[in-house]
Amino acid sequence: MKITDALLAEHVVFHSIFASINRETPHFKTVEEFRAVAKMLLGTLEAHGRAEHDLLLPPIEPYLNDIGHLENFHQEDDAIIANLEHTATTENIDEARKHLTNGLRLANEHFDKEERLVFPLAETHISEESLHALGKEWSEMKEL
Ligand SMILES: [Fe+2]
Ligand SMILES: [Fe+2]
Repeated sequence: MKITDALLAEHVVFHSIFASINRETPHFKTVEEFRAVAKMLLGTLEAHGRAEHDLLLPPIEPYLNDIGHLENFHQEDDAIIANLEHTATTENIDEARKHLTNGLRLANEHFDKEERLVFPLAETHISEESLHALGKEWSEMKEL
């Protein structure tokens, strides 16, 4: 499987997890519920981000730099994580709700941008063979 297809498949799963969280949070009554969701997201998004940044970004970094997007991507990741970390540690339910909502919105926007910009860029500049080799590395990462 090509690395771009693997990461895109993960995005599809995340989009549906984000949508179901957004449906459930209006019913949350305690800050603990928000904290649990934020911790789950931090763990799973971290694994996804690591695969993306270790495997996909290095070969296309010069092209991302050319279009001035590399810096933005790191800032966006940091903002998503900061919102989720805030949610995972706060004692205040209103803060938790606000930061989780922000984090999910930013994550959705970030994913959309990767789908529109980064994955097509990777498919243009990385050979078919290398995309498959990176896909194999991705699946080996999942076995650890
Ligand atoms: Fe990312
Ligand atoms: Fe991603």
